[in-house]
Amino acid sequence: MAKGFFITLEGGEGSGKTTQIKRLADALKAAGREVVITREPGGTPEAEKIRDLLVRRDGGDWTPLTECLLLFAARVMHVEKLIKPALAAGKVVISDRFADSTRAYQSYGHGLPLQTVESLNALSLGTFQPDLTFILDMDVEEGLARSGKRLAAACSAEDKFESLDLDFHRRLRHGYLEIAKTNPARCVVIDAGRGMDDVAHDLAAAVMERL
Ligand code: TMP
Repeated sequence: MAKGFFITLEGGEGSGKTTQIKRLADALKAAGREVVITREPGGTPEAEKIRDLLVRRDGGDWTPLTECLLLFAARVMHVEKLIKPALAAGKVVISDRFADSTRAYQSYGHGLPLQTVESLNALSLGTFQPDLTFILDMDVEEGLARSGKRLAAACSAEDKFESLDLDFHRRLRHGYLEIAKTNPARCVVIDAGRGMDDVAHDLAAAVMERL
């Protein structure tokens, strides 16, 4: 049986994660792998309930620490009920966001000490982490313009995090690049400001190299 492999895609708003995940899954399926696509916060019925509390405008006014605790509660359900069983069955799991989002958003973005996030991560996940993380990096204004257009088109109710100010998104981008520097064996930074085909090519090549 093939060995399970856990891939995460990370990045700011409008970085194109959703499109790239579909393309990567197609490339992996064409190479004969079974693929599970999932997302955070969410991925299981219970974790999707927590997602509603976090991302919807009417979900509640959480403090940075309580937000972080909810994110990890959702993450533990996701890892135990969906990710680990799929990996044990030899599948490739691709998650739209994972723990690096909490490092970037709650710590670099909202100012929660990074050590708090790392402690909660160690407590709830132990040493479990992705095999490979793509950080889709792009100009902040361009990303927001892209996601603004998408939101206007969808009239989304899930726009609480996306309405945060420009400085926040700059801190987020800086945070992701710092995370990549701290974890060079796991993280690959991808220039997501290019055309979709170029980005998709780089992602597929990096995964095939490691599988
Ligand atoms: P999405 O728009 O990529 O689906 O993500 C939902 C929002 O949740 C997004 O604005 C980022 C935010 N988020 C955090 O703040 N911390 C986290 O740990 C995760 C997974 C998401």
